[in-house]
Amino acid sequence: MYRTHTCGELRIADIDKNVTLSGWVQRIRNLGGMTFIDIRDRYGLTQLVVDPDSDKTILSAINNLGREYVVKVKGKVTERSNKNLNIDTGEIEIVIEDLEIINSSEHPPFTIEDDTDGGDELRMKFRYLDLRRNKVRNNLELRHQMSIEIRNYLNNNNFLEVETPVLIKSTPEGARDFIVPSRVNRGNFYALPQSPQVFKQLLMVGGFDRYFQIVKCFRDEDLRADRQPEFTQVDCEMSFVDRDDILALFEDLSKHLFEKIKGVKIVDDYPRISYKDAMENYGSDKPDIRFQMTFKDLTSLVQDKGFKVFDNSEYIGGICAKGCAGYSRKELDNLRAFVKKPQVGANGLVYVKYNQDGSFKSSVDKFFSADQLKEWALEFDAQPGDLLLILAGKKDNTLRALCELRLEMGERMGLRDPKVFAPLWVVDFPLLEWDEETKRYYAMHHPFTAPKLEDRGVLDTAPEKVRADAYDFVVNGVELGGGSVRIHDSALQHKVFKALGFTKEEADNQFGFLMDAFKYGAPPHGGIAFGFDRWVSLLAGEESIRDVIAFPKNNAARDVMTDSPSAVSYDQLQELGIKLSPDSQKE
Ligand code: AMO
Repeated sequence: MYRTHTCGELRIADIDKNVTLSGWVQRIRNLGGMTFIDIRDRYGLTQLVVDPDSDKTILSAINNLGREYVVKVKGKVTERSNKNLNIDTGEIEIVIEDLEIINSSEHPPFTIEDDTDGGDELRMKFRYLDLRRNKVRNNLELRHQMSIEIRNYLNNNNFLEVETPVLIKSTPEGARDFIVPSRVNRGNFYALPQSPQVFKQLLMVGGFDRYFQIVKCFRDEDLRADRQPEFTQVDCEMSFVDRDDILALFEDLSKHLFEKIKGVKIVDDYPRISYKDAMENYGSDKPDIRFQMTFKDLTSLVQDKGFKVFDNSEYIGGICAKGCAGYSRKELDNLRAFVKKPQVGANGLVYVKYNQDGSFKSSVDKFFSADQLKEWALEFDAQPGDLLLILAGKKDNTLRALCELRLEMGERMGLRDPKVFAPLWVVDFPLLEWDEETKRYYAMHHPFTAPKLEDRGVLDTAPEKVRADAYDFVVNGVELGGGSVRIHDSALQHKVFKALGFTKEEADNQFGFLMDAFKYGAPPHGGIAFGFDRWVSLLAGEESIRDVIAFPKNNAARDVMTDSPSAVSYDQLQELGIKLSPDSQKE
């Protein structure tokens, strides 16, 4: 028998028990002739102790031990004289009566401790060692708990989990597909699903009514902290529902998770903000509403007063940082440098200090009188002690830059507490998005998203004005999910394809099977997909989704542990009928 207990289990009540434990050697210390060994498994850490008069075979085994050796020990549980109340087993230790080295270990390339000396790349290369660390394991335990809670909740609400294929025809999510060559059908390729979108709609046509799947999705896109080429969605679809039915159910699911996982009970309905308002007030379709500091449009108030920068700008807007009028010159210079960073993109920063004594001090004192600055302050509802920060330029760019500035100020002012959760729905996205490069419209969500009923009349004449019955679920500035009510009638679908610039042949070629299915009685339906990795990382308080994925890819989309992607043999390529171009071989 390898163990009677785990390394996290024994307590003071177990004193005098004879036990057997197995685990990895975390640490060996020699203190005043006594040897202390901490052994670890998934459940915790237990201290073992050996006195110098112990059996010779034990002493020699101990001399041969090193970090990460796998051992089996037998011994008696005793009360510690020097208790460590920071760990669950800290009141006891095991006096070793027998020790067997089950397996040795090379010296690990980084320390397997909470505070490790291993950099990202090294930890990824030896991920199986990284997985032994508490932090990574805790995150994966949280992930497991969340998937159980999600499954329970959806199961209790009549959802069926159905698996959909991975080798498919291209999907409509708008990123690049990963493609897989077919040996049996040489010259033809499968695509890996960017999402199970079309299949879940076909399941609705098939009468399944409520579907979900915790499912891998694949997108060949540039990576960021919240993006992986393969990631997991909680993918859901429902029939005979309208938008509000869908939002109500999934709002309840998210409340269930906040409560079960974080003990946070949210009673109020989540705010719903239109895409337009989100852009105007926060400069983002995923606003962080843990704090307000919304934008004010000053364009008409400040133009034509002789200040060229404002007069030549399409949009002038700003935020009011409460209580920040005391900012020093250095702090303001620092903010100016921040807004000029390429990723923020502003040309400069105008500030107005509304001093405690009611006076004003600004970077545009030469152009604007105190009375005029007071008018600005009124616009912001500012109080003495507040600081106005103003940007000017092209509208889109300025809103984007203000968004970054607002988030930065939120950070500096301590308004973005990771323990606070501020969920909301962003609704009424535009149906279409114009792309300057290709000079055509793209579906902002995907081509099956239903236009809002009241906007359908202008689909042919002013497609850019049409809003969609699409929604995103956003928490703390992170887009955790997105979905829509779908089009379920062929005539409307063809109209949308037309607005998207698809010819009938193109539409039939890509999505003919779905259009065919819709000829056989498609029910009204809609759904949503949550980014499961993002959701876990938010509740884990992690910055990157890599920290909640057992075997993630690095920023260059590589798995450095298995060294993938990698070259394949000439024979494999031959079999598939694939010839590499000289360029790609050089690379
Ligand atoms: P969407 O494309 O918005 O919708 O994706 C849903 C959610 O998946 C997450 N996500 C990602 N997470 C990690 N890495 C990525 N590369 C990545 N891309 C997306 C986000 C996002 O909100 N089929 C539709 C859903 C529907 O209409 O029902 C879809 O996939 O959290």
